[in-house]
Amino acid sequence: MNSKTVKVRVPGTSANCGPGFDCMGVACTIYNELELTLLEEEQLSIEVTGAGANNIPTDERNIVWRSIKNLLRIANLGDTYKGAVIKMYNEVPLSRGLGSSATAIVAGLKAANECIGAPFTKRDLLRMATDIEGHPDNVAPALYGGFTVSIVRNGRPECFRMMPHLPFKLVVAIPDFYLSTKAARAVLPEKITRADAVFNIGRAAMMMAALCKDNTSFLRSTFDDALHQPYRSKLIPGMFDVFRAAKMEGALGASLSGAGPCLIAFTLENAEKIGEAMVKVLDEHEVKAEYKVFDIDPNGAQVIE
Ligand code: HSE
Repeated sequence: MNSKTVKVRVPGTSANCGPGFDCMGVACTIYNELELTLLEEEQLSIEVTGAGANNIPTDERNIVWRSIKNLLRIANLGDTYKGAVIKMYNEVPLSRGLGSSATAIVAGLKAANECIGAPFTKRDLLRMATDIEGHPDNVAPALYGGFTVSIVRNGRPECFRMMPHLPFKLVVAIPDFYLSTKAARAVLPEKITRADAVFNIGRAAMMMAALCKDNTSFLRSTFDDALHQPYRSKLIPGMFDVFRAAKMEGALGASLSGAGPCLIAFTLENAEKIGEAMVKVLDEHEVKAEYKVFDIDPNGAQVIE
């Protein structure tokens, strides 16, 4: 018998948040939806609409389907369900730094888990998603919502999740070019100095403390980074000028969103003005861009039907 049909909604995410390279992330109010029916027959139907629809494979290579198959294998149901009907509606743009692959992985895992009676916990899904993605910083907020800090300990991810009380707006400038995470990781050095490690540890720790205590004056000092942004700035013309412009308009801080090319400003005021200023600076550097203003999504992946 085929499985019941399940529909899930999963937020896009912004990783790193300045100093939290590969550790911190935040869920944004932009979503992908996935409807899934597992089939006993070896038959795969994948329909994609919305963002990036023309660039997403609709065969065995599809990351949603690969994630589903991974979960079914772990549940020993790989021989029971050999096919699926998958319908995806995507808002999260591809390869821009808003965690589109994490959103797809989490959607596949969440929907498949629900289809087979939810034998796995959220923590199990975090582990599976991290194994597929390679690092937990996007998959954690996609699953849990809010602001997350994740570590991997003895091969197992652990995630601290909190929902800031401060009413943040997340202003994201979205350049009109793709940047693969692989390419953006290739420019990073293998080794870093002690001074750069200390630079980031202090800021990351202070950021979490300030978020937990709603302390905006400490928070303002914490968005800089020495581990990845300086190396990636050559891939995103005008990146540091955009950060300066966002802060001039009142943002608490700004950073590269994930591996880029999106740039994100965290603010409590003037979101539209900040977005306009960010896009203007990118335009001055001959990069076409649009901006969007999001809230922090508090829920993470949800079954909606
Ligand atoms: N932490 C990752 C990076 C996020 O910056 O490369 C992108 O997947």
